[in-house]
Amino acid sequence: MIPKLYTDKANPQTLKLLIAARLAGKELEIIFTEDEVISFLNKKQLPALELEPTEFLFSTNAAARLLLSGDVSDGPVEAKIDTWLEWESTKLQIVTNNLLALHSGIAKEKAVDTSDLNLLLKYINKKLDSKDETLVKEKLTVADVVVWSTLYPILSNDKIVKGWEMEYVNLFDWFKNMSFRKEFRDGLNQLMEVGGSEPKIQPNGTSAKKESHKDSKKDAKSSGKNNSSNGLPSKPLPTSDPDQEQTADVAVTDEEIAVAISSWQNLNPVMKCKRSHPILPKKDARNILITSALPYVNNVPHLGNIVGSTLSADVFSRYCRLRGYNSLYICGTDEYGTATETKAIELGLTPKQICDKFNKIHREIYDWFKISFDYFGRTTTPQQTKISQDIFWKLYKNGFISENTVDQLKCEKCDKFLADRFVEGTCPLCSFDDARGDQCDKCGKLINAVELLQPRCKVCSNTPVIKSSRHLFLDLPTLEPNLQKHLNEVYPDGIWTNNAKVITNSWLRDGLKPRCISRDLKWGTPVPLEGFTDKVFYVWFDAPIGYISITANYTDKWESWWQNSEQVKMYNFLGKDNVPFHSVIFPCTLLGTKENYTIVDSVVATEYLNYEDGKFSKSRGVGVFGDSAKDTGIPADIFRFYLLYVRPESQDTAFAWDDFQLKNNSELLNNIGNFINRGLTFVSNSFDQTIQPMKLEKADEIVIGQINKQLHIYINNMEKAKMRDSIRNLLSISRLGNQYMQSNKPWVLVKGTPEEKSRAGCVVSLSANFAALLAVLLQPFMPTTSETIQKQLNMADESFVILDNIAAYLKPGHKIGKPSPLFQKLETALIQELKKKFMPENVADAKKKTPPPASSSPAPVSFIPTGSSAAEIEKLTQMVTEQGLKVRELKANKAEKSVVDAEVVILLDLKRRLATLQGIDPSTLVGGGKKKGKKK
Ligand code: 2FM
Ligand code: ZN
Repeated sequence: MIPKLYTDKANPQTLKLLIAARLAGKELEIIFTEDEVISFLNKKQLPALELEPTEFLFSTNAAARLLLSGDVSDGPVEAKIDTWLEWESTKLQIVTNNLLALHSGIAKEKAVDTSDLNLLLKYINKKLDSKDETLVKEKLTVADVVVWSTLYPILSNDKIVKGWEMEYVNLFDWFKNMSFRKEFRDGLNQLMEVGGSEPKIQPNGTSAKKESHKDSKKDAKSSGKNNSSNGLPSKPLPTSDPDQEQTADVAVTDEEIAVAISSWQNLNPVMKCKRSHPILPKKDARNILITSALPYVNNVPHLGNIVGSTLSADVFSRYCRLRGYNSLYICGTDEYGTATETKAIELGLTPKQICDKFNKIHREIYDWFKISFDYFGRTTTPQQTKISQDIFWKLYKNGFISENTVDQLKCEKCDKFLADRFVEGTCPLCSFDDARGDQCDKCGKLINAVELLQPRCKVCSNTPVIKSSRHLFLDLPTLEPNLQKHLNEVYPDGIWTNNAKVITNSWLRDGLKPRCISRDLKWGTPVPLEGFTDKVFYVWFDAPIGYISITANYTDKWESWWQNSEQVKMYNFLGKDNVPFHSVIFPCTLLGTKENYTIVDSVVATEYLNYEDGKFSKSRGVGVFGDSAKDTGIPADIFRFYLLYVRPESQDTAFAWDDFQLKNNSELLNNIGNFINRGLTFVSNSFDQTIQPMKLEKADEIVIGQINKQLHIYINNMEKAKMRDSIRNLLSISRLGNQYMQSNKPWVLVKGTPEEKSRAGCVVSLSANFAALLAVLLQPFMPTTSETIQKQLNMADESFVILDNIAAYLKPGHKIGKPSPLFQKLETALIQELKKKFMPENVADAKKKTPPPASSSPAPVSFIPTGSSAAEIEKLTQMVTEQGLKVRELKANKAEKSVVDAEVVILLDLKRRLATLQGIDPSTLVGGGKKKGKKK
């Protein structure tokens, strides 16, 4: 039967179940009642879920969990979810219920004590911020549904939450993210409808207003009429961008104001430290080595690649410079490997020519995006060979290199060993004749290229032969304890995004395996060991060494950065598919040298950026790639701003043109642009371009205090590389400025008495100073706009720094430059045109049917040591790990259920095969993490 949900008017506990059902795609029959559901209960208990006739579930958390039981979660996450559910029902619900009762009852006018609630909100806010324990990071779970539903009546009530948004930034970010989800909005709207002004309904349902999920009408407006007894406010969820409606209310204490004012009045000029190359670590400085993942030379990066690595590192690096840290930002193209060789064949060029051509394309793209590398190099240099071979020899001499034989397919016509993805053939399992070397698209099973029947070379279609070849392996298992020790040291103080930690820990939990570091290729760093000199290093062994060799091409004192672990802190910026190479393999490589190499302290990894509702694809012409962004005619700064605004920090996000237009027109044009231009135009037209004396009144002191508080939060977020949040802080500063102008009305004052005119002078001069602060804070995000504002304000370059507290950058008597508008409106016609341009129509139609493509990381090459079953176990273990990661990634990317299910089937099959090999009874395996739906 379709489960029946009995509920009374607008009950927040019902909301959980409506959302859960929608998320799970399950149907519910909703029965509105105000009577008890079953007679033996002497107390009304609603909502109640009737699963089978007379089988009721009254615990809404258990019911929500049951509805979402198709949801797959693994062990540790499960435990965290339970903790949240328990916390919500025993703490949060009690406090919110009390508060709502107070609010809707006696204390209409009086302020209600919210201190208990504040403690709980603080707790959630902190959890959302913490590195290892979060409400939701990987994917949405029942915990989000439950906590969100209980908080909804509170957090959407402006009377209660005045000013809290700035206090609990993470919490509100999470709350709003959830609020934008269709299931949440629809669930709420449905609840409002159910709880409308319908007559009482009998529990037997005879005169009940029944509503089934599928055909329920969603009419957000109708929810407005609700007036709830359970405390749900009558406000429906926003369907537009909440940021636009936000008022910038920031609560400040007298103490905070005092700190801000004392800093404001300190008129000593602040001098910027000049940077001169080569930048080298200094004894008592904060020495920061910043890298962004070296982009593959043979690809043009798309906006997702750019925001994940180079742009993120650029923002951080610009911030470090503005704070006076001694930082160095290194990047370059990753040029070796099969992919380059293949591209060269495809374009009829030599690998070297490919590298030269594409290195130039990359440089041009990053120049256009104003990525301010201190040095942008490449990996195909003599330094790379020298340093990689030197590191190899140290590993070899320290006993961390072993040898083994592997079977590989070789195409004798191409005279090449073939990586799995360069072979096709007949699937040994289902006989599909177009299987790929790593996987069969028909049966979905993973295969080893050597197992393919009738294999053929993808390049020339010739039949390859199986050849055994000796290869070198890095002994990761022996290095593992050293790595663990290093991670224990750096985890507490470094910035490790949640995904970076999860991926790293999952590698460690599964135990590290020896890793093949040589390849039978030509385009790579030569292996110097006798007997292996016809091979090159596997590109992922020496690509990260590229960071070192590129630094060595920048300065011959490269060791002062790279062999100086005491003085230097290293931050790696990358997309999450690159995490293990930076957090496990490269650190182990360096640890194995037993020298004082600088090893990563912080791994800042982004999730994926989608394009509209799909993925970027160069071959299908979908999405904006680095080289075509400039053809839109839209300035790079606007792209930078939007990409950072939607930076996929804790979950996948998307580049969407409509939203891009909205953010430009609302946040840039109406908020920042309007504020700065208004203030400066006043100074220019009414005060002869001159900053006036600023005799501070209480209102001025408050706004200075509020802005200073936002500045503190901005700095705090930037220190943690949470750029997405920092952008919101600077937008709040601008909103505070706009409100300040609005409430002081200098355009009226300026026409009044001399005192009023001088008051107007103070207001606009303060505003100009806030504009100066914005110019500095914007610089990491929008360098060109920042420079324009700096010019319009005629700001001294030396004072262009981010200080701990607000300062008057422009003193009375200072002459500003000529103001002009900073931003342009993006018109709908242009946006429609761009949408079409970057999403060909045939793709738009076909896209809906195509499953999402696999991640951009290179397909693993199968290197199976010949014979031994131990080796088979090892190989299968690795495949299980990789498949597990793939499943997790798909789920995190919210891939279609059918796609996820197919991968879970493969995972289970692999686990069964592994168990059989290990002599374990496969039927004892836990079902791939899949929970069994509890039947009552
Ligand atoms: O994923 C990529 O684009 C790789 N070329 C990143 C390499 S990062 C570093 F290790 F070189
Ligand atoms: Zn061939």
